[in-house]
Amino acid sequence: MTASWTSCPDLVACLLLCATTALSQDFQLQPLNSTVLRGFDARFNATVQGKWEVMTWHVKGLLVLSVSNRVFFNVTSSSPQFSARPCTNGNVNCVAFTIHNVTRSQAGPIVCSVLGHYGFKTAQLQVEESGTVSIVGGNVTAVQDQQVAFQCMTSDWFPAPNISWSLNGEPANGSLFNTSNVPDGDVFNSTSVLSFQAVSNATVACWGTVSMLPNPISSSSFLAVVPKPPDWTVLIAVVVSFGSAGLLVLLIFGIVFCCRRRKEKKPNYQDEMSKRVRTQSQVSSVSAAGQGQGQVNAGYVLDGQTNAAPSQHSDSGFSQRNGQELPDFAISSQAGNDYKMAYNTLDEPGLRKHRHVTIV
Ligand SMILES: *[C@@H]1O[C@H](CO)[C@@H](O)[C@H](O)[C@H]1NC(C)=O
Ligand SMILES: *[C@@H]1O[C@H](CO)[C@@H](O)[C@H](O)[C@H]1NC(C)=O
Ligand SMILES: *[C@@H]1O[C@H](CO)[C@@H](O)[C@H](O)[C@H]1NC(C)=O
Ligand SMILES: *[C@@H]1O[C@H](CO)[C@@H](O)[C@H](O)[C@H]1NC(C)=O
Ligand SMILES: *[C@@H]1O[C@H](CO)[C@@H](O)[C@H](O)[C@H]1NC(C)=O
Ligand SMILES: *[C@@H]1O[C@H](CO)[C@@H](O)[C@H](O)[C@H]1NC(C)=O
Ligand SMILES: *[C@@H]1O[C@H](CO)[C@@H](O)[C@H](O)[C@H]1NC(C)=O
Repeated sequence: MTASWTSCPDLVACLLLCATTALSQDFQLQPLNSTVLRGFDARFNATVQGKWEVMTWHVKGLLVLSVSNRVFFNVTSSSPQFSARPCTNGNVNCVAFTIHNVTRSQAGPIVCSVLGHYGFKTAQLQVEESGTVSIVGGNVTAVQDQQVAFQCMTSDWFPAPNISWSLNGEPANGSLFNTSNVPDGDVFNSTSVLSFQAVSNATVACWGTVSMLPNPISSSSFLAVVPKPPDWTVLIAVVVSFGSAGLLVLLIFGIVFCCRRRKEKKPNYQDEMSKRVRTQSQVSSVSAAGQGQGQVNAGYVLDGQTNAAPSQHSDSGFSQRNGQELPDFAISSQAGNDYKMAYNTLDEPGLRKHRHVTIV
């Protein structure tokens, strides 16, 4: 010291330098940043060079513990939650301050002060909270190549958890999932959605963690992949299209057929009419015979006479005779037979006459 006095021309500068180096080296607090999980212990070490007498610890501005080292190492604590002891047996130059079972409310500045020129040191305490993780919806069954989505909900975490996914124990590519965090009071709730194409059976797990959590909290679900069923939609589509095409063809054929038939019918109309006439005249001739009017038959013969050859006059003669003799037949009991005869004989020439009519 005496050497310093004489050799140092700038007394004040030297004193200040000596004081600051002595102060910074005499008292240290470790760690300056501490992160612990709620419920765990937070520990800070204060290392003091030289003989010190009183040390105090403040948590979030409250004096929670003091250590007197005047004679013995005497500790006064506001609560059993706070404790202090020499870091190693008998060495009071290092003091270990511990907050047991730390709570979220204790997060903040931790200040250690030492009586005298030592001053104080401040550290920061962060308290994390691990919450719950759960995959919503349970096990999933999917068809092969189907896009499947798993939703993972986490709640009561602080800070927002780091969420990851695994497929069969292998970490899932980050491009497969999205996570959103929502603050809820002093905690965070998160939702993460993992979506991918189902290939084969897989165990899907959602993992939530914060930096100090020794083992991430997870929730698992099972993805069962069933093979693709035969593509009924394609089959149905094929059947329906073919069926409708067939129906269309049938419809077209039907329409064409109908049109053709109509066209064919029109020229045949004359035939149809002639047929009708023929049947009507037959009926009339039969009815005429049934009426037993010989005169009607005679009328037919007269028409036949105009066309028939002279050799057929015998028929007409017969009919004429028949007509004339009708009264006699009517008297006789054999009239029925005679009518029949007359009808038979008249039948052939009668038909011939009709053919002439149709041609006209
Ligand atoms: C302590 O941690 C906080 C947040 O984690 C950070 O911003 C800060 O720089 C850290 N301080 C030191 C001294 O490491
Ligand atoms: C300090 O602790 C010692 C034993 O460790 C005890 O005998 C003494 O009374 C204590 N002093 C005070 C002031 O509490
Ligand atoms: C830790 O603190 C909580 C409340 O802060 C209390 O319920 C719990 O019993 C404590 N655990 C221990 C081991 O002291
Ligand atoms: C994740 O996926 C992206 C695109 O899908 C790809 O470029 C990247 O290589 C993948 N990462 C890993 C680790 O597989
Ligand atoms: C994630 O979100 C982005 C944008 O909202 C979207 O384009 C992407 O498809 C999402 N990915 C997943 C796996 O949901
Ligand atoms: C999900 O699948 C696994 C494996 O098959 C099974 O052990 C578990 O009980 C299933 N969970 C539910 C909720 O069905
Ligand atoms: C997939 O899982 C289902 C349900 O557990 C099972 O029936 C099937 O055999 C599994 N398929 C394969 C390929 O392991």
